[in-house]
Amino acid sequence: AYVNTKVILDKANKEGYGVGAFNVNNLEFIHAIIEAGVEKKSPVIIQTSQGALKYAGDGDVYRGARLFVKMVREFADSVEIPVALNLDHGSKLENIMACIQAGYSSVMIDASHSPLEENIAITKDIVRIAHAANVSVEAELGQLAGIEDDVVAEHSVLVDPNEAKRFVEETKVDFLAPAIGTSHGAFKFKGTAKLDFDRLKEVKELTKIPLVLHGASSVVQEMVKIAEANGADFGGSKGVPSDILKETVKYGINKVNTDTDLRMAYIAGLREFLNNNPKEFDPRKYFATAKEYTKKVIMDRMEVLDSVGKI
Ligand code: G3H
Ligand code: 13P
Ligand code: NA
Ligand code: ZN
Repeated sequence: AYVNTKVILDKANKEGYGVGAFNVNNLEFIHAIIEAGVEKKSPVIIQTSQGALKYAGDGDVYRGARLFVKMVREFADSVEIPVALNLDHGSKLENIMACIQAGYSSVMIDASHSPLEENIAITKDIVRIAHAANVSVEAELGQLAGIEDDVVAEHSVLVDPNEAKRFVEETKVDFLAPAIGTSHGAFKFKGTAKLDFDRLKEVKELTKIPLVLHGASSVVQEMVKIAEANGADFGGSKGVPSDILKETVKYGINKVNTDTDLRMAYIAGLREFLNNNPKEFDPRKYFATAKEYTKKVIMDRMEVLDSVGKI
């Protein structure tokens, strides 16, 4: 069933588990996510970046947003699990409006690079518009940056818990992404992975709403190995290990944003298949292994976050 993201995340917050939010750009990733959710009886959040809207709409973000709603709704309506569609990192009003109009379940307003007062003002406006259309809203506070070994680098970009409390009270935002030391992409940590759990706990105590972890990919070594055995070069990439993800869920994270891990699983499957089948040129065949590996990574993630059976 196609649901408001709030339905999925309020339940996860109340019962204390995490739900994967998986980024997509095309049909095959949607297949992998829905199939994984159905097999694990897990709710799923599918999300698209602004770039994905433009890509899918072949340059037209309104068309891209409508296309994603149609595709996701078509699958969501035919399965028992809750399925939501979220705009990830919306920073341009045009993209946010396109998604609200098209029927997204939620939108993220990312004004985290603006000063606090501006972030509050912009987020407030989006919340008012989105809520009138029964669309929930995610916002971000602080900026994503790594913490190197035991040194907290760029301390000032991590979320300030008191600001988080004020931000949530004033904006009435539904979900908050507090920066606690993760970063986007495949190279998150130089040394050992380290997040600011105390900060996370404090934000949760002061806001009590569903919290979102961005940059949450683990960089699955099994997939890195397969990809690299077939020509890729991801040397030195490092993500957030599963046990650390579990800890963030324990301390209040409910939405776990995952893009890099899916892309890596997909490319591992695609490269391996192409290398092993030089005569094949049917996309339905060469995308199949890519989809299977992506689905496997998604199902493993559902186990780690404890969203299995939570429908
Ligand atoms: O948070 C960023 C996501 O990984 C989306 O990235 O802009 O390349 O689609 P993208
Ligand atoms: P990763 O690059 O770790 O997958 O993060 C994705 C993300 O935060 C999307 O918003
Ligand atoms: Na998001
Ligand atoms: Zn993100």
